[in-house]
Amino acid sequence: MFSLLFLALVGSAIAGPVDFEEDLKHNVDLERLQKDLKALDERLQNSADVDAEIELLKAAYSKTVLESPAPLNGSIIKDEDINEINEKDGEEKDLFEGDVLLTNEQLALIETLHKSNRSRRQALKDAGYSWGTVKPVIPYSYSAGYPKSTRGPTITDAMKFWEKNTCVRFKEVTSGYRVEVRESAGCSSYVGKINDRKGTQALNLGEGCMSVGTICHELSHTFGFFHVQSRFDRDSYVDIDFNNILTDDKHNFDLEGEDKTLLRDIPYEFGSNMHYYHKDFAKDESRPAIYAKPAYKVYQEGMMGRVPTFYDILGVNKHFNCAANCKSSVSCSNGGVQDVNNCSKCLCPFGWAGDKCDQRPAGTKKMLVTLETQTKRIHLPAGTKSTQYKIDYYLLQAPPGKKVQMTPEVLGTRWSNSCDPMGLEVKFLKDARPSGIQVCDWRVQQPTITSETNEMLVAAYSLGDQFAAEITFKAVN
Ligand SMILES: *[C@@H]1O[C@H](CO)[C@@H](O)[C@H](O)[C@H]1NC(C)=O
Ligand SMILES: *[C@@H]1O[C@H](CO)[C@@H](O)[C@H](O)[C@H]1NC(C)=O
Ligand SMILES: *[C@@H]1O[C@H](CO)[C@@H](O)[C@H](O)[C@H]1NC(C)=O
Ligand SMILES: [Zn+2]
Repeated sequence: MFSLLFLALVGSAIAGPVDFEEDLKHNVDLERLQKDLKALDERLQNSADVDAEIELLKAAYSKTVLESPAPLNGSIIKDEDINEINEKDGEEKDLFEGDVLLTNEQLALIETLHKSNRSRRQALKDAGYSWGTVKPVIPYSYSAGYPKSTRGPTITDAMKFWEKNTCVRFKEVTSGYRVEVRESAGCSSYVGKINDRKGTQALNLGEGCMSVGTICHELSHTFGFFHVQSRFDRDSYVDIDFNNILTDDKHNFDLEGEDKTLLRDIPYEFGSNMHYYHKDFAKDESRPAIYAKPAYKVYQEGMMGRVPTFYDILGVNKHFNCAANCKSSVSCSNGGVQDVNNCSKCLCPFGWAGDKCDQRPAGTKKMLVTLETQTKRIHLPAGTKSTQYKIDYYLLQAPPGKKVQMTPEVLGTRWSNSCDPMGLEVKFLKDARPSGIQVCDWRVQQPTITSETNEMLVAAYSLGDQFAAEITFKAVN
């Protein structure tokens, strides 16, 4: 078993002077990991009432699948997400939670926690897993032969995303303990700073991993975070259809025990950059593996945020105690928080802007919503491909006391797990902090969304491909 698996890994590590397998040899006891994962798989199944709820959700879902959909001006090229890239290459078999590498120490910790039914933590904060706090610096380098000239710019854009929004800094170095960006078939990272040997810890970023959102996700693991759908409270938000997951993949949905304080008051977020897409690890990809519970069914299509959300950012700032960089305080509107990089202004939730988060983003188009049904076509023409999103904001405003009811229809798009390249983000809650609902798949009928206040923000985004959608809306009581 061990040697077969090991050979498979060596075989999949194709190009360049790769020492991915070396790293696995040093850090991961594959035999033990396989045994541990198998034991977890055996434990993971649903209770009868969860199965019954899934049957209902499955029936409801199948009604939303459109017959012979024809995308308008769109291509049907499918972009893959992290889990699909890793799955295709067989890499995920030896990874914990799909794209997570574990050290022997972490493995032992998880084994112990499982045996004692205690909690694994969403963010590991023990000494030895941290890059420091308040002003954490993560040293990194590229492995010899890594195609830095082509991939480096996207990687540094992802690092800049975290630097702009948190107190984390990245420093390219040539010696000392560091994260080493390596060529690989897939995308994976250790959780936190390993620190159990000298040298480097791998951050595997293959060609398929080249989007800011994907790299930000892997960097979250490097900071010390696991996935959202492994939170102890996930069973209150989603049902996992274990009948639609291959036995070998079930451990990807292993659950943490309860340890509330370590979630740092960050709520469960479907649109988090650290949540799986609903069809990740599905045996039958025409059906989800993760169903949003009935109360949250508007989120069914919108799992896995394209980039880290406001709450993902707050989580990282709490993890590293970034707030300690500010001595003064500042007041912010609409859920904004003090910007740890400039204490005299606020960091705003998506859809708000200005030093105090009391303005809408520049260029937001306002649309009056009346009792009469209106339809608006939103079109982002093809443009220069970029690592940064072009975003058009539409603010739908109903008269005071009314609500906005809106149904989106995606007309033309590439489609991708995670709505990464393009789509709509719809903010409909009174609380501005949670991420909106992402909408991007033209093959399904999207849910009707009703705002909690008289305003709804619809943001159309793209990395350069053409995107077209139609929104139909009216004011309701
Ligand atoms: C579709 O493509 C045609 C021809 O390029 C163009 O005229 C039209 O505006 C496009 N429609 C949308 C919705 O993008
Ligand atoms: C852990 O939980 C399982 C299932 O609830 C139970 O059967 C087992 O006895 C528990 N183990 C310990 C050590 O408490
Ligand atoms: C901090 O933000 C304020 C308000 O926008 C701005 O005037 C100031 O230049 C910023 N300071 C730095 C160091 O960027
Ligand atoms: Zn991951």
